[in-house]
Amino acid sequence: MSLKKTIADKFKHRFGVPPTFVVRAPGRVNLIGEHTDYNDGFVLPMAIDRATWIALRPRSDGHVVLHSLDHDETIEFSVNDLRKDAKHWGEYPKGVAWALREAGHVLRGWEGVVACNVPMGAGLSSSASFELAAARAFAAVSGFAWDAVAIARLCQRAENRWVGVNCGIMDQMISAAGRAGHTLLIDCRSLATQLVLLPAGTVVVVLDTATRRGLVDSAYNERRAQCEAAARFFGVKALRDVKPKQFAAQADQLDEVTRRRARHVISENERTLRAAETRDAVELGQLMNASHDSLRDDFEVTNKELNVMVECARPAEGCFGARMTGAGFGGCAVALVRADVAEKFGNAVAGSYHKATGLTPKVYVCQPSNGAKVV
Ligand code: GLA
Repeated sequence: MSLKKTIADKFKHRFGVPPTFVVRAPGRVNLIGEHTDYNDGFVLPMAIDRATWIALRPRSDGHVVLHSLDHDETIEFSVNDLRKDAKHWGEYPKGVAWALREAGHVLRGWEGVVACNVPMGAGLSSSASFELAAARAFAAVSGFAWDAVAIARLCQRAENRWVGVNCGIMDQMISAAGRAGHTLLIDCRSLATQLVLLPAGTVVVVLDTATRRGLVDSAYNERRAQCEAAARFFGVKALRDVKPKQFAAQADQLDEVTRRRARHVISENERTLRAAETRDAVELGQLMNASHDSLRDDFEVTNKELNVMVECARPAEGCFGARMTGAGFGGCAVALVRADVAEKFGNAVAGSYHKATGLTPKVYVCQPSNGAKVV
């Protein structure tokens, strides 16, 4: 049964009537452009066919009452009296309410049921999908216009300031603005977007290493600080403003670690722009491979299992290229694969990865899907 039908049924079971609205906001996988968003750079993600779904109806008392099917738990808060609690899934919709109100939106309350089939903590942006679904729910009951870019920014603000995770804008933008059948080139400075088609006859396969690393936050913040230091050295607002030529001319004045961090970001921006231009699967695959190698050697955000996964994927039949995706340190790799052998590819890689690590990976062939919507 589809998740849409499941939550609509659960809503009816709880409230005795069908929901007024069902909203959906997707997770994402990033094809290329990693650790570039907080450097005002370029990313090329796609929204995936896994999402957070909320079935809901308005309430007139300003309260949000939300039951999670995944946690089998109900939360309640008033949009007029928002207080931070300890880390809990309920902080996401609460943080979104806070950011929307801070931006001047007048919010109504609502009640409903939520469920998510984006694997949590796997680097596929289940958090952003929950934030965007909550924002869509607030927009539906409160009647304000849906401006994907503005709402993505507010959801990022909720994540940064309320939940306390210092992420860039990529995940919220793609969950808000993704388009079925396409990847999206996002300029993370202007937030201008451009729809990009995958090369003909290819699909995107997500390969979950089944590893997760704690302490991602501190390593992520450390990388951000190193990038900011490099930008200061070059006298620019962000590393986006440094071209490869300028980097080559001055790089030897940087310390070794900062130089490698900056080299990743500067070369990754070039690769991402090229990836959005080429229609050639072989070239796109090579760019993805180069991205992974740069993340492994220069940016140092892979782990052993991500490297093994990529090494298992690259020689498998039908693979054009493979790389880690998301923040790194665990989670998922992504591969560009010939559509007609995608299933065989998934089985082969799962087998060789299991043999090499003893771990059982998950494989998802993903279809590019739409961003947050009332469905
Ligand atoms: C996480 C963050 C994004 C981005 C990626 C790395 O997914 O949420 O903003 O920085 O890591 O590209």
